[in-house]
Amino acid sequence: MAELGTLVGLLKAAGEGTRLRLLALLADGDHSVKDLTEILRQSQPRVSRHLKLLADAGLVRRNAEGAWAYYGLAPDGDGAALGRWLIERVDDGDPERKRDCERQHAVRANQQAQAAQYFAKVAGSWDLLKTLHVPESAVEAAVAGALEGRVVDLLIDLGTGTGRMLDVLAASYRRAIGIDASREMLAVARARLANAGIGQAQVRLGDIAALDAAIGPADVVVIHQVLHYFDDPGRMLAQARRLLKPGGQIVIVDFAPHTLEFLRTEHAHRRLGLSRTQMEGWAGAMRMDVDLVREFPSDNGESGLTVCLWRLSDKT
Ligand SMILES: C[S@@+](CC[C@H](N)C(=O)[O-])C[C@H]1O[C@@H](n2cnc3c(N)ncnc32)[C@H](O)[C@@H]1O
Repeated sequence: MAELGTLVGLLKAAGEGTRLRLLALLADGDHSVKDLTEILRQSQPRVSRHLKLLADAGLVRRNAEGAWAYYGLAPDGDGAALGRWLIERVDDGDPERKRDCERQHAVRANQQAQAAQYFAKVAGSWDLLKTLHVPESAVEAAVAGALEGRVVDLLIDLGTGTGRMLDVLAASYRRAIGIDASREMLAVARARLANAGIGQAQVRLGDIAALDAAIGPADVVVIHQVLHYFDDPGRMLAQARRLLKPGGQIVIVDFAPHTLEFLRTEHAHRRLGLSRTQMEGWAGAMRMDVDLVREFPSDNGESGLTVCLWRLSDKT
């Protein structure tokens, strides 16, 4: 139930052509103001003004990402309900709506092409790494297995990259947030989530070494192939810990200790793998237990990398 004034505010915000088009576009996934300006072919100040009205009324939510802001449909409340009701009634055959959808598709295709260019630059190292460790499918199955068939309320994926974990674990959460410091990676992640129809996950630009605890509390935090980029993984883990609900878990995948120094000199790694003892030390300092460890040795013998999975559970 809402007060009359609130309902009138909602109706006024939604009751305008451009704003209705914006709601319909955002139903297909989050967009930056820049994307929406390109799709609607209206000036940026004008689009921003419409978005502000929608956000103030509670029909959309805004996430600031440095100098950029991303918009998505409000996840709950009267604004979310009215937005859904309206969007369901928009005829996709409407010529204006059809043109919007075509431009939305073109904007996404362009972003993917740009991200692909970026990946082309780093492809050498990625291909090499793939030959060095076990097939991703075995590790991904183990990450899903670590959640033991539960469907959690909130999962947070730190260093989400292209959003692979959000995709693999989509059936295991009601809501998820992926955070990464690379705009290029996040562009691919957004396209991946939109293509897979995963509307319950959202990605954000951010530094996972300086996290705002208000994005939690999460039932599960996933950190997949990220910790070795940090000089002090324990400090990073303590940041992740702050996001957890009581009884929450952190699922980590990374390399076991290795001697491949070139990964440090040529591929930006800081730590040459993480040991079980180190992990137990970091976990203990945060009042958590390492209650699951899985190892995936490489098929390439000594020249390969062993991948490890650790699950840390809150014991307070
Ligand atoms: C090897 S990728 C792993 C991506 C993803 N977790 C996966 O396994 O597919 C490492 C990711 O960590 C991100 N990353 C590194 N340092 C970061 C930081 N300080 N804040 C946020 N993301 C970071 C990188 O941008 C990159 O996308």
